[in-house]
Amino acid sequence: MKILVINGPNLNMLGIREPGIYGKSSFADLLNLLEATARELGIEVEQYQSNHEGDLVDKIQWAYGKVDGIVINPAAYTHTSVAILDALKAVSIPAVEVHISDVDARESFRQISYAGLACCKTIKGHGLEGYREAIVYLFQILQ
Ligand code: DQA
Repeated sequence: MKILVINGPNLNMLGIREPGIYGKSSFADLLNLLEATARELGIEVEQYQSNHEGDLVDKIQWAYGKVDGIVINPAAYTHTSVAILDALKAVSIPAVEVHISDVDARESFRQISYAGLACCKTIKGHGLEGYREAIVYLFQILQ
């Protein structure tokens, strides 16, 4: 089984970026957590991060026929990108949306998720642990 984890803009700044909201763990810590989860479940987990909307669309399209599930944190593009929503719908790969922070408790513009409309589950406000939960969820439904 192969799971693709996609991270959108500014998530490479984890640990530096607004630690009061996103925590003190770094992006490298997130990569370690993904590796540990893959090892624990005996599956392949690939991570892709980009600050560019079109690159995220390209990666979702690339995933067609190559991965069994997608975990996606589109970051700010969550709230704006119909292109990412359409790409997820186009490939029709089971996808889980993750947000590190509790977007529902923040500004009203963060409460709209386009990508989420193409996802079978959303995990928000669980910090980096949310990525582990999302992978485990996909692992269970895909078996
Ligand atoms: C985020 C929430 C978004 O609103 C924000 O733009 C991000 C990160 C999160 O993981 O909590 O960049 O997706």
